[in-house]
Amino acid sequence: MRAPLIAGNWKMNGSKRDAQLLFGGVTAGAASLRGVEVAVCPPFPYLALGEAELADGVVRLGAQDVSAESAGAYTGEVAAAMLAEFGCRYVICGHSERREYHAESDTLIARKLQSVIASGMRPILCIGETLEQRECGETEAVIAAQLDGVLQVAGIEVFAALDIAYEPVWAIGTGKTATPEQAQQVHAFVRARIAASDQRIAQGLRILYGGSMKPGNAAELLAQPDIDGGLIGGASLDADDFLAICRAAE
Ligand code: G3P
Repeated sequence: MRAPLIAGNWKMNGSKRDAQLLFGGVTAGAASLRGVEVAVCPPFPYLALGEAELADGVVRLGAQDVSAESAGAYTGEVAAAMLAEFGCRYVICGHSERREYHAESDTLIARKLQSVIASGMRPILCIGETLEQRECGETEAVIAAQLDGVLQVAGIEVFAALDIAYEPVWAIGTGKTATPEQAQQVHAFVRARIAASDQRIAQGLRILYGGSMKPGNAAELLAQPDIDGGLIGGASLDADDFLAICRAAE
């Protein structure tokens, strides 16, 4: 049985005050949740505040990115060990916005996954296709290439220590959510692709959906057999909306 995870990706939003209020609102509401794991991923500057505000562990802390390097002359980067010092449990790796804006390769992303795991944290590996790729019938080929890019560098065992988030790029921030059937089809494809290398790892693999998941569509998406949670952007910036999605995952 894969315990559902609902993780909020705050992206580059808010202020220190906003973060404090959001940490508090989510923590207050999460105390009554049962059978669902909850995490929030604030911008780096608010991790220390998150460590303090989430100290009771009801809500886990995560980061939105990480360096593939452990230390050294990498201006502006943040090492996995530094994130672990602030109590991070999760680290988002390979989000489509970083793949697009920062030209992150599958090889770099694989090295980031290894760095996160080596520091005792759990990566959330983001994969997904663009609208053009979907319309050209390339969705499964794109997803397979993204998975294989990690497999070739890090091996199948890395998939036993991470979660995957399928985020169709065309659904991120657009309000155009994938239908439950579209999402389930790709999630099942991901699980089958991993099963081709290791059945046990595939069965235990938690696959989240991300891309305009909202209180109004969360239950139908989460009812799908291979959807094990959500990676939430816009709706995670409102405590009530985010908690409504968490309740749909119970
Ligand atoms: O990482 C989650 C994010 O990309 C989804 O964003 O706003 O469509 O929920 P949103």
